[in-house]
Amino acid sequence: MSTLSLPDAPVDRWLEAARERRSRRAFDGSTPSEEHLAALEDACERFRPHPDARAVMARSVREDLFRGIVGSYGRVHGAPSAALFVGRADSPRAKASVGYTGEAIVLEATALGVGTCWVGGMFDGSLARTTAGASDGEKVFAVTPLGYPMQKVTSTERFVYGMKKPKPRKPVEHIAPDLHDRSWPNWARPGVEAARIAPSAHNRQPWRFRVDEGAIVISFDGPDTPIVSKRLDCGIAMLHFELAVRAAGASGAWELLEHRADVARFSLG
Ligand SMILES: Cc1cc2nc3c(=O)[nH]c(=O)nc-3n(C[C@H](O)[C@H](O)[C@H](O)COP(=O)(O)O)c2cc1C
Repeated sequence: MSTLSLPDAPVDRWLEAARERRSRRAFDGSTPSEEHLAALEDACERFRPHPDARAVMARSVREDLFRGIVGSYGRVHGAPSAALFVGRADSPRAKASVGYTGEAIVLEATALGVGTCWVGGMFDGSLARTTAGASDGEKVFAVTPLGYPMQKVTSTERFVYGMKKPKPRKPVEHIAPDLHDRSWPNWARPGVEAARIAPSAHNRQPWRFRVDEGAIVISFDGPDTPIVSKRLDCGIAMLHFELAVRAAGASGAWELLEHRADVARFSLG
């Protein structure tokens, strides 16, 4: 059995950051303060709840790490630093572990006032491997720029990414169809609310939640996708879920699954 749990994480701080976070793609080019860089390096080194996944901080990165096509999805400007999210290449479970681990770094950055944007497809894979020091058998699944966002939302952010308003999310009834049934444990409801606001590639929100013998199972809808796996999105949502459950006074752990579209199962204990 492979389990994930939050060791000594700052639960309230990260949950608040989860509510505030938005993807930012335009940065002012200035190097983050030593205090912020050191805090993020520390988070990358210490938050390793699963052996299949790790985050690596790069203080200085070349802009061509983020190689989006001009004016389209994925264009990141002016980010001096990055975090790279690495996992075991041959393990389906590692994808969820990478999402879970990486989102912790994204939330810590948000809490510090450092901007982020998960980038799953549009980055230079070989430059990312070298920068992360990935070994044989490891893959960089995603990266995020780290830096101070432009004070103003740029016109590209506004028009291409709809930054004026927060990105819409699916209703809870869509992602957890039985949520209002009596079978749903009360402790799990805040978890679903927090998972709902998680980021996902193309904002597709593939996560679905169901009750199974008192535990909560997260799975993804439809077939999985090759470039950015829906398992990675689900890993991000798993961290949000667990933070909210803990903040409400319950605790438990995720057990990773591989059966069809099932990603993991959360039980109290
Ligand atoms: C795994 C993953 C991969 C992503 N890849 C990209 C990407 O390649 N380029 C990009 O601009 N945004 C990318 N995003 C950001 C999403 O588009 C964004 O999270 C989503 O639209 C929701 O918006 P929000 O983060 O502002 O809430 C990615 C997000 C996730 C979670």
